[in-house]
Amino acid sequence: MPDRPYVIDKLISAKSIAARIEALSHEIEAEFAGTKKLTVVGLLRGSFVFIADLVRELDLPVEVDFVETSSYGNSTESSREVRILKDLRGDIEGRDVLVVEDIVDTGHTLFHVLNLLNSRRPHKLRTIALLDKPSRREADIRADWTGFEIPDEFVVGYGIDFAQRNRNLPYIGKVRFTEG
Ligand code: IMP
Ligand code: MG
Repeated sequence: MPDRPYVIDKLISAKSIAARIEALSHEIEAEFAGTKKLTVVGLLRGSFVFIADLVRELDLPVEVDFVETSSYGNSTESSREVRILKDLRGDIEGRDVLVVEDIVDTGHTLFHVLNLLNSRRPHKLRTIALLDKPSRREADIRADWTGFEIPDEFVVGYGIDFAQRNRNLPYIGKVRFTEG
């Protein structure tokens, strides 16, 4: 599959992403106003660019931690089975926590991660996803903040990969296969 030739059509520009993050950062600051510490939890690897830009817009006392879940491998197909490959380093009991996801697709990943983190009794747990594909949803879950709703397209860039490639694109593009 990854060897099939494809092109990437630009869907969301770097400028639009930056503007959207700036706007959302104010809503997050309002939600967590007065917090002593906000633990921002990125879901590896797809959220690494988003979390880097987001935390730099947040005028709050922030710590950063990461969770890694099992991915789709090298396929564009979803999997209902979510495994934790890397857990948080820090304790979140009684803490304010913001989970940062790249895309909510079927929703199984976010559903599983939120259940796990909620079981550790944080004070307040919120979620932000850069992208949402509502038409693909299987798990009953929504991020508290979403950057952009997109149609059922396979996207890459801004941290998001296709078979580990294209994470370094500064914009979000959709994959279009050129043969087959
Ligand atoms: P979910 O568990 O189906 O919601 O899948 C979430 C994860 O699947 C995201 O964090 C992405 O890593 C990956 N994913 C979903 N859609 C895409 C896509 O269009 N391109 C690349 N990765 C995707
Ligand atoms: Mg992901």
